[in-house]
Amino acid sequence: MFKLAGKTAVVTGSGRRKGIGEALIRRFAEEGCNVVISDLGQAKGKEFGAEHIGNTEEMEAIAADARALGVQAIAVPCDVRMEDQVSNLIQATIKAFGQLDIMVNNAGVGYIMESFTEFKESSWDAVLDVNLKGAFLGSKHAAIQMINQGHGGSIINIASQAAKSGFPFAAAYTASKHGLVGLTRSNAIELGKHKIRVNAVCPNHITTGLGHWQNQFFSEKLGLDYETYLQGIVDRNPLQRTGLVEDIAKAVAFLASEQSSYITGEAMNVSGGEEYH
Ligand SMILES: NC(=O)c1ccc[n+]([C@@H]2O[C@H](COP(=O)([O-])OP(=O)(O)OC[C@H]3O[C@@H](n4cnc5c(N)ncnc54)[C@H](O)[C@@H]3O)[C@@H](O)[C@H]2O)c1
Repeated sequence: MFKLAGKTAVVTGSGRRKGIGEALIRRFAEEGCNVVISDLGQAKGKEFGAEHIGNTEEMEAIAADARALGVQAIAVPCDVRMEDQVSNLIQATIKAFGQLDIMVNNAGVGYIMESFTEFKESSWDAVLDVNLKGAFLGSKHAAIQMINQGHGGSIINIASQAAKSGFPFAAAYTASKHGLVGLTRSNAIELGKHKIRVNAVCPNHITTGLGHWQNQFFSEKLGLDYETYLQGIVDRNPLQRTGLVEDIAKAVAFLASEQSSYITGEAMNVSGGEEYH
């Protein structure tokens, strides 16, 4: 639909079932792109527990789903906080497919939340390292490759409504996502001459694995039961529903394609009208 057939797309944090990353991989595969599924692959310390991350079995299963749609797919474990691993991710992509056209920095941590005065330095570092430094590293190594290829590309950062508005208990998350929009804008200016477009997508609420954790966390904080909390989100949304992973995939496919050829440096809300600046 968006003429992406034959292109290569890398999506970080795409190895977890029900996630935005999984939906992006599915959409790219439906469009005929070869895809690289990338995620942590295994639990790492208390901040990256098995209940929060995409493991290698899930990554391989998501790759198999993509292949079933008729494209080539590889799964590459990568901790986006580590520059050598991010560099390896891009090299593995080139080894498999010979090119990189679309880089989506989707890996994110949104389950480390606490009252601001209780927030630990180590928690702050974990959130900023994945959400902001990870996108810096992913963008840097993708840009190096795309500049060398000489025919441009599209870098897309999955930000959040928390890139535009503040949220309680989420200072680190909110700061990281606001920062991600700054990274997007600076890189759009610097990389434009190489025909590399850089944009962000800002979802509001989607009940992924991460979204489910947030529903539990905020409903407890507000003293509401889970369903009442979710209904509150629906009631204040102009389109009267929460987001779907497919809503984000549509926006990302558009930003990856030539249909958005004069769009760069944008932070596009995909929020049913809840966020509009
Ligand atoms: N679900 C929502 O409501 C929502 C709203 C706004 C923005 N987002 C953003 O969307 C993105 C995807 O979130 P999701 O809701 O699909 O949750 P998810 O938990 O399914 O996806 C996040 C992925 O990031 C991976 N990850 C975490 N640390 C990593 C690291 N160090 N290296 C590599 N990968 C790592 C996880 O393993 C996981 O697969 C995140 O950036 C999140 O902040 C989500």
